[in-house]
Amino acid sequence: MSNTILVGSQWGDEGKGKIIDVLTGKVDIVVRSQGGNNAGHTIVRGSEKYVLHLIPSGILRKGKICVIANGVVIDPVALVAEIEGLRARGIKIEKNLLISECAHLVMPYHRTLDRCREDLKGKNKIGTTKRGIGPAYGDKIARMGLRMGDLIRPELFKQKLSLRIRENNLLLKELGGQPIKGGRALAEYTAAAKMLAPFVTNTVTYLHKAMAAKKEILFEGAQGTFLDIDHGTYPFVTSSNTTSGGACTGSGVAPNRIDTVIGVIKAYTTRVGEGPLPTEDDSLGEMLHEMGREFGATTGRSRRCGWFDAVATHYATLLNGVDELAITNLDGLDGLEEIRICIGYRLDGKGAVLDTPPSDAGELARCHPVYTTMPGWLTPTDKIIRYKDLPLKARRYAEMLAKLSGAQLTIVSVGPGREQTIYR
Ligand code: GDP
Ligand code: IMO
Ligand code: MG
Repeated sequence: MSNTILVGSQWGDEGKGKIIDVLTGKVDIVVRSQGGNNAGHTIVRGSEKYVLHLIPSGILRKGKICVIANGVVIDPVALVAEIEGLRARGIKIEKNLLISECAHLVMPYHRTLDRCREDLKGKNKIGTTKRGIGPAYGDKIARMGLRMGDLIRPELFKQKLSLRIRENNLLLKELGGQPIKGGRALAEYTAAAKMLAPFVTNTVTYLHKAMAAKKEILFEGAQGTFLDIDHGTYPFVTSSNTTSGGACTGSGVAPNRIDTVIGVIKAYTTRVGEGPLPTEDDSLGEMLHEMGREFGATTGRSRRCGWFDAVATHYATLLNGVDELAITNLDGLDGLEEIRICIGYRLDGKGAVLDTPPSDAGELARCHPVYTTMPGWLTPTDKIIRYKDLPLKARRYAEMLAKLSGAQLTIVSVGPGREQTIYR
């Protein structure tokens, strides 16, 4: 499989965790290179369900190495809890996890700032996960961040922390947030540092040695294309580059070492949090929610749902250089007589048909979708294991999504389990 980047081609929660878990069978190393514990990647193995936030979705497979690379922002206390939670369920986490010394830390003041800024925005809020992701990346870019390398050097960490707390408490006071208690933060982070220190290393060197030894790497994207800080529906985005380039800067593996980019798309569209979603459709959402689906893996919020938006996924194919597509949740549409696909937008519902999403979030919110419709297959697909056994109408639908998105269809997923994966 050589080196592959897997990204979400929509607004996150496309089913990346499931597809990563499936593909990990064929690779040696899985790397997370951006985002933080705002991510929630679900893997279902037998009757067991796992939701991973910071740890790469390769962790359930024996003999695979998982790397949290430099581009990720790490809340060390949350990471310790995640490791302990997995260990308690019998998952081995020892030498199979490596953490970059250059990864930035999410600090308690980041979480409080995240909350305060959302509150101040009122109805204009982003709807963040309140995990402190934006403020942590903000500090990184402003060159005021603390990194894993600082965390594992107790004296240095203590000094840097006290300076950062002093400044952030001034800010928090003005914003009406609770000031951070330095002693408590130091104690919590020092305890986490002791547990995490053995995993911390230069992951760039590790990855390059591994490539020299012909090991194969899978880069696990977090969030989705339209949450990208540069290319997404700004400001209703997350604070990292969720598109494929982020995997390179976020890991220290150059673009010419990447062989394939896989885009994951849901057979419809979902979004959690605020911001434009042109194909949003409440009755489709109601149907999916009644099936017990589309509730956030990190915050439990119900996801907004809409029809498949090919204008968005076609743009995502360009931004990411998507070669291959994995379509997930096809089974979610099994009960529909007719399915809509958005093939264009009209600003305010009039004028020329747009084939590119406007970069201004306000304009995108004013876009009315232009739909084509396809007949539904009205047959359960969740037990089907061969592509040719899918109903013809389901195959036509999946192939249409791939054609409109501009990449090759290679995987169709018809359920959360590993075995519910069909190769084309
Ligand atoms: P991620 O963030 O992209 O990894 O996606 P999430 O885990 O947040 O959300 C995807 C949800 O869809 C999870 O509950 C998965 O278990 C589930 N899922 C993934 N693929 C399929 C599928 O093909 N069919 C069904 N029914 N569920 C799926
Ligand atoms: P995975 O990896 C879906 C959304 C939040 C909010 C916006 C900014 O599971 O696909 P943040 O806390 O990052 O500052 O929030 O981004 N968001 C996600 N939506 N899936 C995710 O991750 C997300 N991570 C962040 O809901 O709208
Ligand atoms: Mg998710």
